[in-house]
Amino acid sequence: PLKQVSDAAGLRAEVAAWRGAGQRIAFVPTMGNLHAGHYGLVEIARRNADRVVASIFVNPTQFGPNEDFARYPRTPAQDAEGLAAAGCDLLFLPEVDTLYPLGIGHSVRIEVPDLADVLCGAHRPGHFSGVATVVARLLNLVQPDVAIFGRKDLQQLQLIRHLVADLAFPVEIIGAPTRREPDGLALSSRNQYLDADQRARAAGLNVALRAALKAVRDGRSVAEAEALGGQRLREGGFEVDYLVLRRESRLDSLDVAWPQHPDLVALGAVRLGSTRLIDNIAMSEL
Ligand code: PAJ
Repeated sequence: PLKQVSDAAGLRAEVAAWRGAGQRIAFVPTMGNLHAGHYGLVEIARRNADRVVASIFVNPTQFGPNEDFARYPRTPAQDAEGLAAAGCDLLFLPEVDTLYPLGIGHSVRIEVPDLADVLCGAHRPGHFSGVATVVARLLNLVQPDVAIFGRKDLQQLQLIRHLVADLAFPVEIIGAPTRREPDGLALSSRNQYLDADQRARAAGLNVALRAALKAVRDGRSVAEAEALGGQRLREGGFEVDYLVLRRESRLDSLDVAWPQHPDLVALGAVRLGSTRLIDNIAMSEL
């Protein structure tokens, strides 16, 4: 069975023993209810280090007051089995007090300018500050050589790259490709909230993102391509938070067409009923 620790001292003791033996340590932070997308991160971690630490913590500071914190699915026993099978060596399962010893309302928070306020940040005030705040704490507790984050949450991945570079965390960040269902829907813990009709429509998000990128590749302007993608989404029964084409590195606008800018990426966020779905596709993946 997978070794599990929940306090900082226990975690430090395990990691110190490995580090003393000269081993390289990889870290995969999660909120649990794990699926093949998460296990893919563990496999990448395995290939990049001698030891793999994963964490499960449903972080209250990254959920808005009307979001799904209370009903976020919690399946720790099943997750521990899957993590062991994927090659994880240690599971860190902290309580709120371990990550927020001053209490949530009094804790130090990290703000990341620019990147935290656009796209999903504009629709989820405070969300990315909560993510940066908890990831900084987790990195300081685990002190890994490398940490793996999914490209599924591209804005989060880029935000963490900024956090780590700006605060000089001594860790390498690896972005992992998005794992998908056969119809193209990105794997997500939130997919299980979808009813049968919504599930059948959900892959339309990926289709619309691809259509927008293809339009740019075929010579349409970025504005035209975004309008076309957005129209596809509304026709597919989605409520659209955004569908945009951005430069991958900073997620800023770039009104110049492919092929001069190979780092163009299409990002979308939609709602089907009360379920919010996000996805993105890079031009290089088309
Ligand atoms: P969570 O949503 O559990 O995701 C954990 C990691 O799995 C993230 O890096 C996410 O990008 C990755 N992931 C999710 N679905 C994926 C998929 N289909 N393919 C590839 N990777 C996928 O993201 C969080 O938790 C939290 O914000 C966290 C970083 C743990 C901070 O609380």
